[in-house]
This record gives sequence, structure tokens and C-alpha cells, in this order.
Amino acid sequence: MILASSFLQEQNFLDVLYVIAFALFIQGLRGLSGPTTAVRGNRIAAVGMLIAVIATLLNQFEGNWGLIVLGVALGAAVGVPAARQVKMTAMPQMVALFNGVGGGAVFLISWSEFRLTDGFSGTATYIAVFSLFAAIVGSVSFWGSNIAFGKLQEIIPGRPISFGSAQQIVNLVLLILAVAAGVDIAAGSHSEAIFIGLLVCSALLGNAVVLPIGGADMPVVISLLNAFTGLSAAATGIALNNTALIVAGMIVGASGTILTNLMATAMNRSIPAIVAGGFGGGGAVEGASGAGEHAGTVRSTSAADAAIQLAYANRVVIVPGYGMAVAQAQHAVRELTKELEKRGVEVSYAIHPVAGRMPGHMNVLLAEADVPYDQLKEMDDANPEFQRTDVSLVIGANDVTNPAAKNTPSSPIYGMPILEVGDSHSVIVIKRSMNPGFAGIENELYYDPKTAMLFGDAKSAVSEISAELGQI
Ligand code: TAP
Repeated sequence: MILASSFLQEQNFLDVLYVIAFALFIQGLRGLSGPTTAVRGNRIAAVGMLIAVIATLLNQFEGNWGLIVLGVALGAAVGVPAARQVKMTAMPQMVALFNGVGGGAVFLISWSEFRLTDGFSGTATYIAVFSLFAAIVGSVSFWGSNIAFGKLQEIIPGRPISFGSAQQIVNLVLLILAVAAGVDIAAGSHSEAIFIGLLVCSALLGNAVVLPIGGADMPVVISLLNAFTGLSAAATGIALNNTALIVAGMIVGASGTILTNLMATAMNRSIPAIVAGGFGGGGAVEGASGAGEHAGTVRSTSAADAAIQLAYANRVVIVPGYGMAVAQAQHAVRELTKELEKRGVEVSYAIHPVAGRMPGHMNVLLAEADVPYDQLKEMDDANPEFQRTDVSLVIGANDVTNPAAKNTPSSPIYGMPILEVGDSHSVIVIKRSMNPGFAGIENELYYDPKTAMLFGDAKSAVSEISAELGQI
């Protein structure tokens, strides 16, 4: 037993475990690059994390096992049912919440290290600096993520809440105060009050940075905060001399930064501008202009007419959006595609990078319905093809097709690249009403003479079209 336990705690053995864990993280991340391999990738990375946790527990053998078991049990009791029961449409909120917990853990570790070492006495300065960096960034990330969660869950208003033109000054003052407290501690102060002051300033900063950001920009913010949590965890890893935390934190930091960039580019946003809170004010509430304010007329169609139009088309492009996710219409959509293909119609799917409510939302749903991956066209590949498309079938997508993003400078989505469905010969839009989408704005596309609206729940409407196709 003694032999076994000493072998398990051998540094070389622990290093081997860490190396295996890192290899699994990287392999898992590779799997996440495509919807068909994503579930496996996630499992592989989870096994990697389990190995890293076991190695860390073996290493920190003097830890309080009772508390560790209690923490694991509590975390599992909250996390497992939450992850199992969450709806796909609520996934961004869950990511925000879990990300926040990571940031919270990081600043608490830093605080506990401060107390254990009596204000970093006898600790190398660079370790104290990393620990203080982790405390500031972790706290910003924790509070910022909570606000992002609250906005997406509609517990707090999605519209920007700010001090107006004084906002950036307030943010700067809070940042300066937090950094000044950190410098004071790194320079030798042992005052816990100053450490708490650092945490309070960072907490206020996290709130002050995210509150002024409109709901429509929340996905980019969550991704950015995710990158922050990763960086703060890596800094904690340096402070605790834990290689697993450094590597995992840097992977999260790097992938979060890449994702943030991709999403900001897709929405034509600049990251500094989002953080400065200067735009994106549309949110879910502000720019809302209800149905019926538009002077134009809307042409509605029936499932039977839509079926005829689709059956005689050479080329159909399906444009899915959030409504397809809400209706869980992906399987019905796949069935419709098969029906059309039987009739020799060429069908593809045009995927906007921010369609739905989370990155890759449409890809995940369509993969679940076994839509072949090569039928999915990303926005840049899909747009030039609309001109030679007979019918664009828009299923529960709204903002991602809204020409206001190109034509109306005052629109909250102005500048966001859209799927150019208006270029196709005709457009059929399936949605339940004239209600706006996430950005809360009217869609000109619906008043275009070549557009026909098929009002109804996406799943029922698509199934009805398939049934009508069977009669043709
Ligand atoms: P939205 O613009 O939100 O429009 C979705 C449309 O689906 C709504 O207009 C709604 O109209 C319709 N709908 C809802 N339930 C339906 C149902 N059961 N059957 C049929 N239609 C239904 O969606 P989008 O075009 O996918 O654009 C996404 C928006 O969300 C963008 O503004 C984006 O910035 C934002 N956002 C994206 C993400 C990510 S990362 N993807 C995260 C958060 C926010 P009715 O009520 O009339 O049916």
C-alpha cells in the first residue's frame, strides 16, 4: 500500500498522466472542429480533464479529502442535471454561467493563496503578480458572465444599461484602482482590505463592462469572457505551479480568442468597440418595431402552393434560423429535402455564422438530423449562389436575412453580413407571425414582391409541404 501510494505520487508518473491529459485535450479539440466528431471530441477532452484532476489530487495529497469529495459531489449534483436538461436554445446562458463559475473559482483560489501565505510573504514576486492578475481577470469574468447570463435569460433587460458618455471613464477608473491595489500588494502590502478592494473594483468593472452591451452582442461577449477565464486559469496555474491548469487555461484562452474573433467578424463588430459599449444597442428590446408599422404589403402563401413551387424548382436553398431550433423542425426539414431530391431538385443549406443562439447552432441541429455535411454551405460560399437559386426557403430565420444590415445605417444590425436570399428568384419564409427576431427590428425582405410568407410553426409547416409534395 505504501509502495503503491508512493509510486502514484512519483513526479514522473504524475508528469506522464499530465502529458496524456494534454494529448487528449488536443485530440478532443480537433474533434470539436466538425459536427460529426464533436460529441466524441467532447468525451475525449472530458476524459483528459478527469485524468488531469486525478493527477492533481494525487499531487496535492495533503489536501482535505472530505472537502474535495464534498465539492465534487456538489458540483456534480448541480452540473449534471443542469447540462442534461438544458434546452439547445438556452445553451448560451448555460455557457455564460459555467464560464462565470470558472472565473469565480480562479479569484477565490487567488484570495485563498493570499491568506495562506499571509499576503504572499516569502512568495516570488512573479508568482504574486500572476496570482493578482488571475484575481482581477477572474473576478471581471465571473461578474461579467453573470450579467451576460442575466441578459440572455431576460432576468435583466437586454438593452444597454450605462452611464452614457461617462461609461468609459468609470471603466478606466475601476481598472486603474484594481491594478493599483494589485501593484501595492505585489510591492509588499499584506493588507487583506486592499485585496478585497481589488476584488470589489474588479467585480464592479465586470458589471460595468457588460451592462452597457446590447443583447445582440452577448454571444461575442460570452466568448470573450471565456477567453478571459482561460487566461486567468493559466495565470493561477503558474501561481500554483500546476502544469495542467496552465495548459488547459491557455487552450481555453486561445480557442476563446479565436472564436471571439470569428464571431465579431461574422457580425462585423470590432472587439474593442463591443467592450467599449459604443454600439450594438439594438438588443432584444430597444430597436423593437412591432408588426404592422411597415407601409408595404405582405404576400402569404399556403403549404400546397409552396410545395408546387419547390417541386418545379431546379435549385432550392434552405436557410435555417432560430425558429427551426425552437420548433425542433430539423428532422422534418431533412425529410422535405429527401422528398425534393427524389424529384431531382438540387438542395443545399445556407448557414449564417450567428443563426440561432449559439455558434454552430444550425450545424449541430442539422447534423443531428443526418443532413450530409457537404450540403451545408457557409455564408461566404452560399451568397454568390443565390443568384442561380430558384427558391430560397427561409425556415425560422429573420435577422440573418434582413437587408437592413446593408441598407439602414441606423439599424442595430447595420454592418452585419447577411445571407443574400433576396438575390434568388423567389423566397418562401416560414414563421408564425410578423414578429421580429432577436434584434427586435422589422425585416424588409417580407415586403419584397418576390417573397411569400407561409405562416405557421416551422415543424408543422415543413411537414405539411412534404405531405403536399407527396400529392404532386
Ligand atoms: P431571429 O432573428 O431571432 O429570428 C427567429 C425567427 O424565428 C423569429 O422572427 C420568429 O418569428 C421565428 N420563430 C420562432 N419560433 C418559431 C417557430 N416555432 N416556428 C417558426 N418560426 C419561429 O433568428 P436568426 O435569423 O437565426 O438570427 C439570430 C439572431 O440571434 C441574430 O440577431 C444574432 O445576432 C442573435 N444571436 C445569435 C447567437 C449565436 S452565437 N448564434 C447568440 C445570441 C443571439 P415568429 O415569432 O413570427 O415565429
